Amino acid sequence: MQKTLISGVSPGSIIAQDVYGTDGVLLIKKGTAFREHYTPRFKEAGVQEILIEENGEMSTNTINAIRKSLNIQDVIHEKTRSHAHNQIKKTMMKFKSVSRNDIQKIGQIVEDMIEQLLDQKDFVFALSQLRSVDDYTYQHSVNVGVLALIIGIDLMLDKDQLRHLGTGAILHDIGKIMIPEELIKKPSKLTIDEFSEVKKHTLYGYEILMQTNIAEEAAQIALHHHEKYDGTGYCWGLRNTNIPLFARIVAVADVYDAMSNDRVYKRRSLPDKVFREITHLGDKHFDAHIMETFAKHINIYPTGTGIILNSGHRGIVLHQNKLYPESPIVRVFTPKEQNVKRLYFDVDLSINTKWFIIQTY
Ligand SMILES: [Fe+2]
Repeated sequence: MQKTLISGVSPGSIIAQDVYGTDGVLLIKKGTAFREHYTPRFKEAGVQEILIEENGEMSTNTINAIRKSLNIQDVIHEKTRSHAHNQIKKTMMKFKSVSRNDIQKIGQIVEDMIEQLLDQKDFVFALSQLRSVDDYTYQHSVNVGVLALIIGIDLMLDKDQLRHLGTGAILHDIGKIMIPEELIKKPSKLTIDEFSEVKKHTLYGYEILMQTNIAEEAAQIALHHHEKYDGTGYCWGLRNTNIPLFARIVAVADVYDAMSNDRVYKRRSLPDKVFREITHLGDKHFDAHIMETFAKHINIYPTGTGIILNSGHRGIVLHQNKLYPESPIVRVFTPKEQNVKRLYFDVDLSINTKWFIIQTY
């Protein structure tokens, strides 16, 4: 720990001790990453100096605090994401049915998502860092909707098509409401019989959606989102472009998001590993053109990813280099034993080519 004048604290430094104003009121808790706008607040409260952690004491909490301070931007508004989350939760918690009203509400949310995505010139999907396993299905449904729309916009689908694509993508797993929960959340490997039962969520989903006023092409997403391009998927074993376009899009979005998140039976893979695995599967499982389109909007090393360089330094990804996605701008932590004042420094790996990322955490 070291005492530092408020004016000398760099954003992202971790506050090592609870900070109180001269009136004894707690201003900020220890472990929080310092942000620029704290300076006037601290000065106003009479705080001249604070204790900040030295770099060698970087803990997981510290790294997480820095991540929070990075203000990672979502591609859709927080309010829209939470509307979508609550609506899909309500819809899936109903007993084995979906109403026209549910479809209409989801359609409206999808329209908001489309507007927000179209407002951005260059959208890159940012995975949220914190997700609960319990709410996995709802968060996953929303993410698949957003990812499918990103691909659909790049493929120049018109607004009606985008609305059908987004609605069907959000509801792609709706058939799971017919499958016993203990199978969906089983932490160990499913038996052959159990897997056959789980596979039926595609058929159930299609049946449920066809009883509503949803467009046929949206309902087909529920039926065909587990088909694989080489014909080895289910439920019909369709191959190539016989798989409907929307289902080919959602297949990529579904697998990417599932691999990126903790499940009851599996820890999530790190972003660079997911990126490599999914592009590797590309030839067999996915439509290559859709895969390429998707890859343009995904960061190999998203902002906030913990990294280890070939030099042995640890750090965190700060910004992307659009032309060199493998070489982002990173904040590197100074090793504790190098008794220097600077806790970290920033490096553009596309310029400093001696250093490169060898591992993520
Ligand atoms: Fe599914």
